Amino acid sequence: MSHTPAEQFEKISSVIFPSAADAAAALAREVRALIEAKNAAGKPAVLGMATGSTPVPFYRELIRLHTEEGLSFKNVITFNLDEYFGLIRDHRESYFRFMQEQLFKHIDIPAENIHLPDGTIALDAVFDHCAAYERAIADVGGIDLQILGIGRTGHIGFNEPGSPKDSPTRLVPLDRITRQDAAADFLGEENVPRFAITMGVGTILRAKKIVLMAWGENKSEIVARAVEGEENEAVSASFLQSHANSRYFLNTAASSALTRVKLPWLVGRAEWTPQETRRAVCWLSTKEGKPILKLLDEEYNENGMAELLTRYGRAYELNIDIFNRQQHTISGWPGGKPRADDSNRPERALPFPKTCLVLVPEPQDDVVGMGGTIERLVSQGHEVHIACLASGDLRVTDAEALRFARVLSETAEIDHARWAEALRFAAGIIEEIEAKGMFGDPQPRLRELKSLIRRGEARDAAQSMGVAANNVHFLDLSFYAEGRYRQFKLSTKDAARIGSLLDKLKPHQIYLTGDLADPSSVQGMAFASFRQAWSERTTAPWRANCRIWLYRGHQKEFEPHEIEMAVPMSPDQLARKLSAAQKFQTHTLTENLDGSRNKHIAELYDALGMAEYEAIEVFRRWME
Ligand code: GLP
Repeated sequence: MSHTPAEQFEKISSVIFPSAADAAAALAREVRALIEAKNAAGKPAVLGMATGSTPVPFYRELIRLHTEEGLSFKNVITFNLDEYFGLIRDHRESYFRFMQEQLFKHIDIPAENIHLPDGTIALDAVFDHCAAYERAIADVGGIDLQILGIGRTGHIGFNEPGSPKDSPTRLVPLDRITRQDAAADFLGEENVPRFAITMGVGTILRAKKIVLMAWGENKSEIVARAVEGEENEAVSASFLQSHANSRYFLNTAASSALTRVKLPWLVGRAEWTPQETRRAVCWLSTKEGKPILKLLDEEYNENGMAELLTRYGRAYELNIDIFNRQQHTISGWPGGKPRADDSNRPERALPFPKTCLVLVPEPQDDVVGMGGTIERLVSQGHEVHIACLASGDLRVTDAEALRFARVLSETAEIDHARWAEALRFAAGIIEEIEAKGMFGDPQPRLRELKSLIRRGEARDAAQSMGVAANNVHFLDLSFYAEGRYRQFKLSTKDAARIGSLLDKLKPHQIYLTGDLADPSSVQGMAFASFRQAWSERTTAPWRANCRIWLYRGHQKEFEPHEIEMAVPMSPDQLARKLSAAQKFQTHTLTENLDGSRNKHIAELYDALGMAEYEAIEVFRRWME
């Protein structure tokens, strides 16, 4: 594998695309070329398929090539990586059904050419089934192109940490993290199967070509470990290092922890923009374990930053400059400090008070990401609105809905005449849950009840941050209300809904998240809808006066050099934020529930030589 100097740490060739859509289109073009070449040679093209959110844009592009450009899949044979053990094929979350819905039913592939491990096989027949799966792959001459995603544990297929390099197709137990990640699909971790049948690492490595796709900042750390770390069983995606023809296709967000992107000065690639300079100095401070103001000339020289030093003259000047810039991010006045000089503050003093709109992709993103800041904005006199974009009902278990329906139905018994309608509604829900069983598809009525449950929680949480119930808006974006995880489709209706709220409120500040999320995730979809609404309003007079601040709920936290506003919290404020987060009882994010993220940022600021706070919430400005 040939490397540019910038890629010297990369042991797997990695291609960085501006967006997931670009990467998916490039891969789809390769698949088309493969199919055409195989057709010309009179042979079938054998594709290894993957599931999850990651391949969704790729499958949509294949469907487009089929419907708009006439690409035929008649001569394609597919083998999927894996299947949950114990799920019937019709199960909402079976990979069989996923593949049907995402790809197969939209193209002309013959049913007999499709292969997936069978999750319904009896335990004592699994071994033979797996051996037969391996044989079926070999019988058609092996896989020409294997598509992969990567799990948070670095797994490929379901080869969890510890899977040997030569492992074959087999039954495996699922890791705790993997099961947590699948919990949303299954309406609760307890429903996620404990086992799966997966192609082994050895099976995957026998493919002639491999492309692993990854999108979004949440994948960046594991991607960097797999590409630049040692090849070992702890990260099964690292085994691609010894494959002769494997590549990673990344979007910019997923590439952000690679050395060439994260620490470019170490590979002779730095462009010393103000942002990059701050990044390098903060990194050096952390690496040397000393505050910025104590960094020495020789430490800069020894770490690839000699050019930077030359520009500034001495470490002292550079240290002071970055120290000041980092220090100026700290502000207890997220809405701006009235009657104060704001030239070195993150937010403008005027207008005061401001109208602030917090956009929340999924319930609790706001509290986890910026609960303390919301409380401050309110207490400093600003008008704060919270808009919940997706209802979050998909995360509410049937058991929870049942509890509410029963309360409703028992309430109705108190005054039967007045409550007859409610009683019918509740009885309908109870009946539905019983009839559909744990895994049936919920009807709109059940999803509505679950949305209401989440609304109640969001209102309680908003109230405990000081936001009035009237200022909490529920947009129920249709991509979510009418969709399922990994099946969401953007709708122009959603941009219109967000847009009309913007037009009504004319906010001076918008807080949102999801800019670097996987584009198929709720956060990614919500962000895309916002972005559309925003770009449709270039001439709106209020827009020129509106600043957009990004926060992090579900997503990876900002790095110190990215932070443009750091809002400190006292121990009391942190405790109040955590108690607001506890209002979400039916589903709670696993991230930051103990405030550890906010405490960690405070420790970082302390280590950089700023001030020692209990906790900090951080923001970055978004520019279109
Ligand atoms: C599951 C699948 C993997 C997939 C991973 C990541 O574990 N078995 O094949 O790569 O999820 O999923 P996502 O693409 O949704 O992030």
